[in-house]
Amino acid sequence: MTQDELKALVGQAALQYVEPGSIVGVGTGSTVNKFIDALATMKDRIAGAVSSSVASTERLQAIGIKVFDATEVDELAVYIDGADEIDHAGYMIKGGGAALTREKIVAAQSRKFVCIADESKLVQTLGSFPLPVEVIPMAARRIARQFAALGGTATLRSKGGAAGGEPLVTDNGQHILDVTGLKITDPLGFESQVNQWPGVVTVGVFAFQKAHVCLLGASDGVRTLVF
Ligand code: 5RP
Repeated sequence: MTQDELKALVGQAALQYVEPGSIVGVGTGSTVNKFIDALATMKDRIAGAVSSSVASTERLQAIGIKVFDATEVDELAVYIDGADEIDHAGYMIKGGGAALTREKIVAAQSRKFVCIADESKLVQTLGSFPLPVEVIPMAARRIARQFAALGGTATLRSKGGAAGGEPLVTDNGQHILDVTGLKITDPLGFESQVNQWPGVVTVGVFAFQKAHVCLLGASDGVRTLVF
């Protein structure tokens, strides 16, 4: 199976976690896009969605699903989202699609985080994928130096992906640093530490908002990991 087919498989499998009549938390990315496509088949049986990005909001609305603002809803039963890496404890790196801040907010509002991913995302230790960190622009250079002190190399994400290009601006009007060279052996401690740095909006380690379940797409089907 291709990676795209594996994403479609887990996107479809995630429907089992959507409670009829509920408002569902929806993440961002190519795997979530497959989930949104699958959700179209039950759009008349859900009350709507809370979305983690402008891109997902547009996709949900295009298929006729009502999107609520996060402030209109107290708690969500389930949040469904992808990951750039997930380890065997359910800790993740997220933010490859630059939506990490809203993703963490909607995840925090949800009772259960269901991660959908193809098997290439499962790792022993987080850190091979460049760690996304959303930052206030005026703090970016100092934060990059703080990562250098930890052995990391931070690069400002550009719009087109080209080095030195115009910086990408997130849905929140901020910038993204992508940090390579880290081995994150203590995700909870690391997330706590980096969250204290002035100017960090969100670090892309999801340890406090880890997954409860991961639906992992493999060529022999969907494996369900429960953390
Ligand atoms: C977006 C994310 C995505 O969930 C993550 O990047 C995985 O994306 P994809 O499903 O396209 O591989 O965190 O900010």
